[in-house]
Amino acid sequence: MKPLSDKTETVTPSPIRQMFNLAYGRKDSISFTVGEPDFATPQNIVEAAVLALRNGEHRYAPNAGILPLRQAISRQTEKTHGIAYSPENQVIVTAGGMEALMLAMLTILNPDDELILADPCWTNYSRQVQICSAVPKFVPVKAENNFLYDPDELEASITVRTKAFLINSPANPTGGIASEEALKKLAEIALRHDLYVISDEVYNRLLYDGRRAFSIASCPGMAERTVVVNSFSKTYAMTGWRVGYAVGPAPVIQKMVMLQENVAACVNSAAQYGALAALKDPQVAVADMTESYARRRDLIIEEFNTIPGLRCYTPQGAFYTFVDISGTGMKASEFAVRLLDETGVIVVPGHAFGKNSNQYIRVSFATSDIKIKEGCSRIRKFMYNRIQKKNLTGRAL
Ligand SMILES: Cc1ncc(COP(=O)(O)O)c(C=O)c1O
Repeated sequence: MKPLSDKTETVTPSPIRQMFNLAYGRKDSISFTVGEPDFATPQNIVEAAVLALRNGEHRYAPNAGILPLRQAISRQTEKTHGIAYSPENQVIVTAGGMEALMLAMLTILNPDDELILADPCWTNYSRQVQICSAVPKFVPVKAENNFLYDPDELEASITVRTKAFLINSPANPTGGIASEEALKKLAEIALRHDLYVISDEVYNRLLYDGRRAFSIASCPGMAERTVVVNSFSKTYAMTGWRVGYAVGPAPVIQKMVMLQENVAACVNSAAQYGALAALKDPQVAVADMTESYARRRDLIIEEFNTIPGLRCYTPQGAFYTFVDISGTGMKASEFAVRLLDETGVIVVPGHAFGKNSNQYIRVSFATSDIKIKEGCSRIRKFMYNRIQKKNLTGRAL
């Protein structure tokens, strides 16, 4: 048989999957790995989708998405970003933010073009870049900079092949958010070097301590070169519905629609009516869910910051915290495997998100207070056991 495509060789499974495989079949496990809300989709959204099916919405939708949803997305983005994207040619409804990202990259990147990514960043970006036969170029980001690019380091990494950089704020895996001031500096770089920007804002409604999201697309001159990606998955607990969207310059969005025609044709019609109901809703459910995440965030930070050897970054958005484990003397990969082995607690080792992040673990707090307390108590015991051993043997923690 002839070999399969080179792409299938270069795109490898994420280390998150390896942790799931290791945990498979363990009945006592507590998972801090989930990247999705543990709430049910609000009932009014479910009802709207059911009604759409009952009313005969059984056919293909337009490639770009149903018009009422594109109009609602346009109104919503005008409120949050101050930009009036035309529902006719500047909005596309996609299968989650994931497909919007993939279509944006396929539209912007030629083979061998470089897309700048933060290290750490969400695991799927670099694999999507590889699917485009393009090159992910990583710029390390640090906790003291809210895990956002240092403008000088970002600029220094630009080459003749650089086509775009990607911003994810609030970020997965860190929960860091980019300030308006920081984004303005990055916008100047994009303009100076004529770069596109992909702004992944799928967590932009999950913010804490009264923070408000700001988008790089709102900086002068940036709407013309930024593709903003968003999703119903995280905000409305709709991960399984697979509805996301992108807004941006008409030439880019139109090409994405053309690709969509050949990839999935369109997003599930009934799910789009559910998403429309989500945007029409007074957003009480979103406020309630965000309040729960905020309470869990406080709980988990308090717990982690009193466990010896661990230092927890305070996330300002999303539902992850990035925990510095360098005080334990272990690399994250070893820490995660031992922790699972000895306690049944599953965390994601930082190297899943970038080469420079092997002194971190990602902990998701999209889980119940009870599980957070139980999981933290097991981690605390795990660390105390190591301290005891260290006292007996004189070895590092
Ligand atoms: C940063 C980030 N972007 C995009 C996505 C894609 O989410 P979805 O395709 O469900 O909208 C995720 C999912 O975990 C994510 O964490």
